[in-house]
Amino acid sequence: MYQALYRKWRPRTFSDVCGQDTVTTALKNELQTGRLSHAYLFTGCRGTGKTTCAKILAKAVNCQSPVEGDPCNECALCRGIDDGSVLDVTEIDAASNNGVDSIRELRDEVAFTPVSGKYRVYIIDEVHMLSAGAFNALLKTLEEPPAHVIFILATTEVHKLPATILSRCQRFDFNRIRPEAIAARIQYVAEQEGLTVTEEAAMLLARLADGALRDGLSLLDQCASVARHIDADTVAAVTGMASQEVLAALTACVAAGDAAGALEQIDRLHRSAKDMERLCAEWVTYMRNLMVLHSVKEPGELVIAAPQELEQMRKAAAGLGLPTILHIMEVLQSTLERLKGGVSRRVEMEMAVLRLCDPRLDTGTAALLHRIETLENQVRSGVPVAQTAPPAVPATPVSATAPATEEPPLPEPPDTAKPEAPTAPAASAPGDEQPFPQWAAVLEVLMTSCPPLFGVLADSSAILKDGKLLICTNNPLFSELIKDSGNQKLLTEAVQKGTGSSYRLGLRRTHVVAKQEADPLTQLLAAGRAAGVPVTEKE
Ligand SMILES: Nc1ncnc2c1ncn2[C@@H]1O[C@H](COP(=O)(O)OP(=O)(O)O)[C@@H](O)[C@H]1O
Ligand SMILES: [Mg+2]
Ligand SMILES: [Zn+2]
Repeated sequence: MYQALYRKWRPRTFSDVCGQDTVTTALKNELQTGRLSHAYLFTGCRGTGKTTCAKILAKAVNCQSPVEGDPCNECALCRGIDDGSVLDVTEIDAASNNGVDSIRELRDEVAFTPVSGKYRVYIIDEVHMLSAGAFNALLKTLEEPPAHVIFILATTEVHKLPATILSRCQRFDFNRIRPEAIAARIQYVAEQEGLTVTEEAAMLLARLADGALRDGLSLLDQCASVARHIDADTVAAVTGMASQEVLAALTACVAAGDAAGALEQIDRLHRSAKDMERLCAEWVTYMRNLMVLHSVKEPGELVIAAPQELEQMRKAAAGLGLPTILHIMEVLQSTLERLKGGVSRRVEMEMAVLRLCDPRLDTGTAALLHRIETLENQVRSGVPVAQTAPPAVPATPVSATAPATEEPPLPEPPDTAKPEAPTAPAASAPGDEQPFPQWAAVLEVLMTSCPPLFGVLADSSAILKDGKLLICTNNPLFSELIKDSGNQKLLTEAVQKGTGSSYRLGLRRTHVVAKQEADPLTQLLAAGRAAGVPVTEKE
């Protein structure tokens, strides 16, 4: 009969248990010095060795020739306990047994001395499942345990235990097992079973196991049923996990704005029955790794990956700016939320990649930052910011073909409330508009004091009207940026520095319909305004 790998390779000594050194060292010490407790409580995540250690402890206290606290696994008692013929060790699964009855029986039994060993040992697994009545019965026994009785309680949910029980037990916390330790154990078991597992595959399995060695070994079992040689592709195929290459390719597509490529990837994954929610979650994790690699020099255990994967991710991270990474994560996170709602998954994923490929379709803060970053890079690398919009305002009074709208003055930063500051040259006549040649000097100041503002204003101009300085721009990012009081202040300062005077500032927006196809966001904003709809932030 086939025995699952995780059962077959259940450690039989404390020394064989991996990743729980604090627990196993302490237990071995107690065993060697004979300072045993009457009740132990093993808590921690599933699949980390609680039941395993309970079984080892039960043997170790009864073993006829223990070795440094470990059971010998050879003497009559060890073997009897293993095959269930020694009746002094009782395992109760609180999750399946009728709790109250078995605990009552136990209460009547404990008074009797052990039959063949030194101790009667009761292992109560998943002890949090006991009913209130059973807990009370257990408590009675725990209050005055006979000297020859040892209880080992194990649970994943220690918070469900009554304080009266907790206070009577010596508690041991089992940690999640570190991925390296899981990968090493997977390699060990594979070797014993005549399987070969690549380092990358072992690491992938370890990552999927998420701290639980049992899960890691179960996954190995699944892989072993399709191949004797297990590599990353085997793992990806068996677990339905998207390989790192797929995630890297998707990310590269959206970063390059390659919508066709991204949709093609989604289509391929969809056809190979890849679950879109899972894909989205894995992509989020991948981007999260890029984020960490971008921000931390020595990520250590923050990023779990095989060395070559790590190298690949490092490169990918370096090629993307942090705002871009955060933007992708933000879109994916909200997509993940919606995918959970059971919408059409494929469509949802496609919408996400489209939004990612064209940040202009997205008005979220992260998207705006991403756009600013792109502009900054263009400015820095000397690429002239594209002159998509026509010179915003003709030097002559606005003609009927380009109707201009004037918006309310920009909010004044708090510390610039100074009506009597060196006043601007008075306008010649109310309603008159004059070009404002010093604007270039203002922009020059902005270039160093506030590159993002400079980026969005690079192709703007300005006019003077009624003593007010109206900035002429169609760039919707400007309206976003100027909401920030820090930016307002920087702009006011730049005007002061570039012109030597203070002006009240305003925004002049020209709606030049013919040229607007360049920016869907502008269209959207303009349409909203025309309809009197307040244009709000995204979603
Ligand atoms: N720390 C560990 N060292 C080695 N193997 C482990 C460890 N933890 C779990 N395993 C493997 O997982 C299986 C299940 O572990 P178990 O002790 O039953 O976990 P739980 O903590 O859920 O009681 C074991 O049979 C063993 O193969
Ligand atoms: Mg268990
Ligand atoms: Zn023994």
